[in-house]
Amino acid sequence: MPASTAIVIHESLTGHTRRAGELIAERLTAAGMDAVACATTRVDLAALAAADLVVVGSWTDGIVIVGQRPGRAGRLRKLPAMAGKRAAVYCTYAVDPGRTLDKLSAIVADRGATVLGGFAIHRTRLEQGAADFTDRVLDAFSRAKG
Ligand SMILES: Cc1cc2nc3c(=O)[nH]c(=O)nc-3n(C[C@H](O)[C@H](O)[C@H](O)COP(=O)(O)O)c2cc1C
Repeated sequence: MPASTAIVIHESLTGHTRRAGELIAERLTAAGMDAVACATTRVDLAALAAADLVVVGSWTDGIVIVGQRPGRAGRLRKLPAMAGKRAAVYCTYAVDPGRTLDKLSAIVADRGATVLGGFAIHRTRLEQGAADFTDRVLDAFSRAKG
């Protein structure tokens, strides 16, 4: 059976979300998937078309503990269609992500994907966060596949 494929699409201002996305792609690859990471501005359309799993990550924008939302949500809303894809979302944050994950999930669902879940990663704990996120995603993905 061919390996399942994944694409990690990240929206990053100062690099934390990109780094987390790269770590997640590395971990998915280590778990036996074909995974690539790319920025929202340079989505690998062939990889997206082939992907069994789409991971979308963004940073938390807001007034520290109120009004949090995915950073540069405009770019996320314009991502290519993901009809029929399974997806998972993550955000990085400094203090409190608030409802960023819910809002990011809604954006990704609006692109047509089925969102399996989400995970917030503190910007000072990218390695651990990416590891925990990937474990949960692999679990949810294998359950969803049945
Ligand atoms: C304009 C701006 C607003 C932010 N607002 C919040 C916030 O409301 N809550 C929070 O926890 N972090 C907030 N942060 C911190 C970022 O979400 C955090 O540093 C994130 O990891 C940055 O990701 P990046 O390096 O990929 O851009 C804010 C950062 C910026 C630049």
